[in-house]
Amino acid sequence: METILIVDDEKNYTLILSAVLEDEGYETLTANSGAQAIEKLNECDVDLVLTDMKMPSMDGIELLEKIKVRDPYLPVIMMTAYGTVEKAVEAMQKGADNYIQKPFDNDSLILYVNKSMSMRRVINENRQLRNAVENWYSFGNIIGKSKVMQDVFETIRKVAPSTATTLIEGESGTGKELVAKSIHFNSPRKDKPFVAVNCSALAETLLESELFGHEKGAFTGAMSTKKGRFELADSGTLFLDEIGELPQSLQVKLLRVIQEKVFERVGGTKPISVDIRLIAATNKDLKKEMEDGRFREDLFYRLNVVRISLPPLRHRMEDMHLLSQHFIDKYTEERIYDIPVKGIDQAVKRLFYEYSWPGNVREFENVIERAMLMCPGDMITVSDLPKDFTDNAFNRLHLEDIPSNAKLYETLTLVEKKMIERALRMANNVQSHAAEILGIGKSGLNQKIKKLKLDINSKN
Ligand SMILES: Nc1ncnc2c1ncn2[C@@H]1O[C@H](COP(=O)(O)OP(=O)(O)OP(=O)(O)O)[C@@H](O)[C@H]1O
Ligand SMILES: [Mg+2]
Repeated sequence: METILIVDDEKNYTLILSAVLEDEGYETLTANSGAQAIEKLNECDVDLVLTDMKMPSMDGIELLEKIKVRDPYLPVIMMTAYGTVEKAVEAMQKGADNYIQKPFDNDSLILYVNKSMSMRRVINENRQLRNAVENWYSFGNIIGKSKVMQDVFETIRKVAPSTATTLIEGESGTGKELVAKSIHFNSPRKDKPFVAVNCSALAETLLESELFGHEKGAFTGAMSTKKGRFELADSGTLFLDEIGELPQSLQVKLLRVIQEKVFERVGGTKPISVDIRLIAATNKDLKKEMEDGRFREDLFYRLNVVRISLPPLRHRMEDMHLLSQHFIDKYTEERIYDIPVKGIDQAVKRLFYEYSWPGNVREFENVIERAMLMCPGDMITVSDLPKDFTDNAFNRLHLEDIPSNAKLYETLTLVEKKMIERALRMANNVQSHAAEILGIGKSGLNQKIKKLKLDINSKN
């Protein structure tokens, strides 16, 4: 049964309203001040708040603000005195669902309450549905419904319980660190340390002492003995990020630790043994580095026990919708917006599909976050996108494959053709879906396919 909290400083009045709403099948709670209302909200699950505007100490607006900070989705109906329209407007601007002027008859009250309640039900169902879909299409906070990402989840599931050394490859921003952490936190070592080292961030000698530690007096400035990351990660997971940048001399040392599971601190002679699970990540093509002689072959094979290749975002654009909803939800929870952003409009979707996302998911998240800050309504439009992003996105569209002596008409035809081909590919040749992506009608698309003589069956 749904519960309504009724707040009014006149005790008798709350009792009357309570009787009316209980007759209508709701459970009710009553409070005679804002402070009492907050107490009740802390103690009980409430589905709707019906509050008086004018109350001593904390008034209705202040209570509304407190409620919206706690739960932006909890509907609030304001009861206002006759002739206080400005206050009612203020309440609506601050997120009240509705307002009702005193005195009112029971039927109007019930109408308002039922309306807000059914809205709440729809919103809740939507959120539950979305959560269910996200759980299905995610592994912890890694999102992806594309086949490649589903395969990545499967691999994480399989390798997490073991101690197998894992190599994660992928361009910048594809989620390498996220995957490394999720392997650790889904492993039996999850309560032990996860220690990360960025192999490209330090000069060679510093990196060596960072990894293996040093004895007192090992070099100028080594005032005391210091444990390295290998020791700190003992019984947990060591994450070697940017392993492709590891200097050759340290590649040899790392190989020895992996093979013999012992090492010495810099300046020390005592062998130290550790029990660690190793995960390495790189945005370089290690095979190529190896062929070019920059990465040791024996080390490569030691690291490459399990390999996880994270696809660039442009190769899994079918995940874009889920990712945008995921980030919109994430930033909605972190902030309170006047109008909560619900999604991105068709034109933005098209632009996103078109763009190559060199910074991958990190760049995507960043663009969504910045657009949400600019967005005045509930849908992100092209004008909300950061200017540097749109400039870049549009530029790419124009520069690709256009001969320098091309005429305008030819160029437009070329771009049109490319966009249609791409949309068809993304839509698995289902024309109605492709038309949706392009923002045109199905018959319009069909005509264009004929006019441009596109052989859609031969597209992969
Ligand atoms: N599949 C995904 N689902 C949700 N968020 C993701 C996903 N992939 C990456 N992210 C987010 O994108 C950002 C970058 O991810 P991460 O730091 O793991 O990338 P990376 O591959 O290690 O990048 P770099 O090579 O630049 O270090 C993080 O905020 C991360 O949470
Ligand atoms: Mg990283």
